[in-house]
Amino acid sequence: MINIAVLGYGTIGSGVVEVIDKNSDGISKKVGDEIRIKHVLDLRDFPGDRVESILVHDFDIILNDPEVTIVVEVMGGVEPAYTFVKKCLLAGKSVCTSNKELVAAHGPELVKIAKERNINFLFEASVGGAIPIIRPLCSSVTADKILEIKGILNGTTNYILTQMDTQGWDFDKALSKAQELGYAERNPEADIEGHDACRKIAILSSLAFGRNVNYEDIYTEGISKITAMDILYARKMDCKIKLLASSENIDGKYYAMVAPFLVKSSHPLSGVSGVFNAIFVKGSEIDDLMFYGSGAGKLPTACAVVADVIDAARHLNENIQTIWSEEGLALTGCENATRRFFVRVSGKRSGCEAKINEEFGEVDYIEPEEDTEGFGFVTPALAEKSFDEHLRNIPNVLGRIRFE
Ligand code: NDP
Ligand code: HSE
Repeated sequence: MINIAVLGYGTIGSGVVEVIDKNSDGISKKVGDEIRIKHVLDLRDFPGDRVESILVHDFDIILNDPEVTIVVEVMGGVEPAYTFVKKCLLAGKSVCTSNKELVAAHGPELVKIAKERNINFLFEASVGGAIPIIRPLCSSVTADKILEIKGILNGTTNYILTQMDTQGWDFDKALSKAQELGYAERNPEADIEGHDACRKIAILSSLAFGRNVNYEDIYTEGISKITAMDILYARKMDCKIKLLASSENIDGKYYAMVAPFLVKSSHPLSGVSGVFNAIFVKGSEIDDLMFYGSGAGKLPTACAVVADVIDAARHLNENIQTIWSEEGLALTGCENATRRFFVRVSGKRSGCEAKINEEFGEVDYIEPEEDTEGFGFVTPALAEKSFDEHLRNIPNVLGRIRFE
């Protein structure tokens, strides 16, 4: 019998208990032993719930229980998660977590402690929900040099953008529904301002490039400024708006960014809808790999956490190697990245056409289908820095979105 404890009985924690209960026979066969949930830690009580009799409010009960060998951390946030996880690892208990805030902030240290103790710190569910991406990066593609990672890494924002586009919902309605469905972070600002995707691309980049990428160094923009009008223009240009997270190794210089992009309908990422996520990994020899699946949600994510529990149970006194150096990786700014931009302007086109052409040369003008004020235009490809300089001279700009 392998005893585990679950820290946090919210969306994912209750999913972990449900998956283990539902699939206990299959899980036991895969582990070669029975997995028993001995304790569940939460702040609240759950009268009448399946976990009522195993619920604890004192973390020390779990820490000091020598029978507990694997701890699942699904509380979220950096503290007290970091303190609890570190104490568990130092006490010789393996930890499986879905908490990207924790992993992005303390990943290398926790990986190191697990290695020193010959146990495991596993975090497959911290990126891409149900999508296997951490394991492939740590084991399947290690023979190659990774050049680029690009994808949709946040389920909530992809759900919001999809509902705005296909159902005509406004932003707030789509966000409320994403919260109701259990996709959003406790503070959904992390989703809509891009911080969640930023932490995820930092984790993937650290594993892919072999040195630690500090998420605070990544240029990040969210989707809170995207309006129904932007979606209308996107449709006119045969595009979808997607929050993309990317990182690249170009001739030994490393770049990373999170921002909304206009993606042509012919691009595979444009068809990734709702809560689904997709991640491209480009290697110098393997070329493109694409990973696709549910990026958030109770049971899909819980399955990824439980798969880590199974792996930890199969390797109780053996560290599964994760290479995540504490040495930092310096990122180069994106100001020289060259791309086209869509710009939306209020007022009449005739009033500022000359100025736009003077600043940007030949642009493509886009008129909205509906009888609305304003117009849009698409610039030729130019560096971010140069675009910003020219845009400053254009009056009445309502917003701009990059083209993928
Ligand atoms: P929830 O807020 O639903 O659950 C967290 C649970 O932990 C709550 O029941 C909360 O109790 C409890 N908790 C918080 N602090 C403590 C504490 N100090 N001691 C004991 N219990 C505590 O979050 P989710 O389940 O949605 O997410 C959990 C983690 O998984 C997060 O890191 C999230 O980013 C990540 N994740 C979530 C996904 C999703 O689809 N939801 C997908 C992938 C990853 P209370 O409510 O009383 O505060
Ligand atoms: N809030 C996150 C998302 C959960 O929507 O992608 C999955 O990490």
